Amino acid sequence: MIELDAVGQTALGVASVRAYESLRRDALFTDPLAVALFESALVASGVTDPDGTLPPMPPATDAAGRERLGMYHWIVARTLFLDDMFRSAARDGIEQFVILGSGLDARAFRLDLGSAAVVYELDRPPVVEVKEALVAEHELVAGTGRRVVQADLISDWLSPLIEAGLHTDEPTCWLAEGLLVYFEPDVARRVIDTIGRASASGSRIGVTVRSTRGTRTDGPFAQVAALWHQDPGIVRRFTDTGWTCEVTDTASVLAAAGRAIDAELGAAGTADDGSVGPSASLLAGRFESRSVGRAD
Ligand SMILES: C[S@@+](CC[C@H](N)C(=O)[O-])C[C@H]1O[C@@H](n2cnc3c(N)ncnc32)[C@H](O)[C@@H]1O
Repeated sequence: MIELDAVGQTALGVASVRAYESLRRDALFTDPLAVALFESALVASGVTDPDGTLPPMPPATDAAGRERLGMYHWIVARTLFLDDMFRSAARDGIEQFVILGSGLDARAFRLDLGSAAVVYELDRPPVVEVKEALVAEHELVAGTGRRVVQADLISDWLSPLIEAGLHTDEPTCWLAEGLLVYFEPDVARRVIDTIGRASASGSRIGVTVRSTRGTRTDGPFAQVAALWHQDPGIVRRFTDTGWTCEVTDTASVLAAAGRAIDAELGAAGTADDGSVGPSASLLAGRFESRSVGRAD
């Protein structure tokens, strides 16, 4: 399989969490691509119950364990929240879905977005190659239209999307999950502004916003955290450029889904990197204006 750089490999880490969650007896979602990739490793690791399912995560006993659990819950919560956003956009008649920095996102395979929907998945060529090989190997079939776009968000990425069929005069549901934290502030702001320019009235967006505050340099995520940048004011940038935003967090999303996480996190309550607290947020935005913050 092709080598991925450090940022590309983060897509595998996120998928491994989705695989674990998918195999839990009390799973809140199922991700066939993640399961195809990680099931045998999880079974071989001996953590499965006798019936082949996985138990809830064991309670954390130290700071590193709390950090791992914080990350696990953050990824489960964002999956649920962003799935809901996609479903609700589809119910409201949106037919274009654009997943920026799509990694191993399997929403085109696992969500019913309606037969007319088209999901655009955009990532850099090596990540796309890895994913397409897995999709072919495991014979996964998307339930919607699916168009894969190879582009780098640091340069012109809108033109290839438009060439692939995106209609910027129709509402789009955008997704930037686990993405903007990897960009220098000016790049993140440019991506946000381009999304706004390409959004017709009625467009939606789901974004993860994660701060590096409190991430331990000697913790289990030290390597990946070294790739993260400070939040350049993402929520503010969206609200300043015509988006109406709602912001929530891991604990609220999981509580609404009926999953109590306090017992798993142990006495300290939150992960040391704050990933269950206010430094990791989920944003859902609606774009109603065609004039505010647009270059045209
Ligand atoms: C943490 S992964 C998240 C993947 C996916 N959104 C998810 O949540 O499962 C970050 C993804 O962003 C992609 N990415 C980072 N920088 C990018 C860039 N400049 N252009 C396109 N994709 C990028 C990486 O290749 C990787 O797939």
